Amino acid sequence: MGSDGKYKAAKLALELVKDGMVLGIGSGTTVEIFLNLLGEKIRMEGLEIYGVPTSYQSYYAAIRNGVRIVDLVEYEPELCIDGADQVDSKMNCIKGGGGAMTREKIVAKASKKVVIIVDENKLVEKLSMPVPVEVLPFAYGYVSRKLKDLGSEVKLRHGSGKVGPIITDNGNFILDCEFDKIEDEKVERVEEDINSVSGVVENGLFPKAIVDKVLVGKS
Ligand code: 5RP
Repeated sequence: MGSDGKYKAAKLALELVKDGMVLGIGSGTTVEIFLNLLGEKIRMEGLEIYGVPTSYQSYYAAIRNGVRIVDLVEYEPELCIDGADQVDSKMNCIKGGGGAMTREKIVAKASKKVVIIVDENKLVEKLSMPVPVEVLPFAYGYVSRKLKDLGSEVKLRHGSGKVGPIITDNGNFILDCEFDKIEDEKVERVEEDINSVSGVVENGLFPKAIVDKVLVGKS
């Protein structure tokens, strides 16, 4: 059911892609569906599409699908397509379920337009899930204490396939930080407060000011 919604959202995003475009390419399963559809379009219509990927996952998926990899040194993406873990009623988002939020935020901010693709299960009235925070391993203890002082419950992210903490594509740890529901008017403030702690690299709060459009696929 969720993946049907993801497919529909990805299909809608495909309509925005034009020949010769430079795309910012987010990460996650919805983006991977988008890249597979884009690959078909590239093959059928002989398009040239360039992309700045935000993770190893989307880097390899982009290459497999015929997208030419470029970087932010030479290019400013026209359109960034990315997924999200939660989207509130004002289009504020939480991202980073896949741990790629740092590069995702950089590429989103570097892009002229940002379009988020989600299935309807991601929609909430107010943001409420833990906020992923990427942190330098050296600073992990200090940052944890500071984020607790800000009122959050902090958990170091562990995964499968490796013992110990998850290491991001940038070589860092992730802390999942549970705050109470985050009201629309507080999103930017919380984002800034988290990022003001020394040792924090970036966090997964994407305030609505970064987001131009949310495409929701309903199953
Ligand atoms: C990765 C992300 C993803 O966009 C987010 O987790 C959504 O993933 P999916 O499309 O698999 O549900 O922010 O850091």
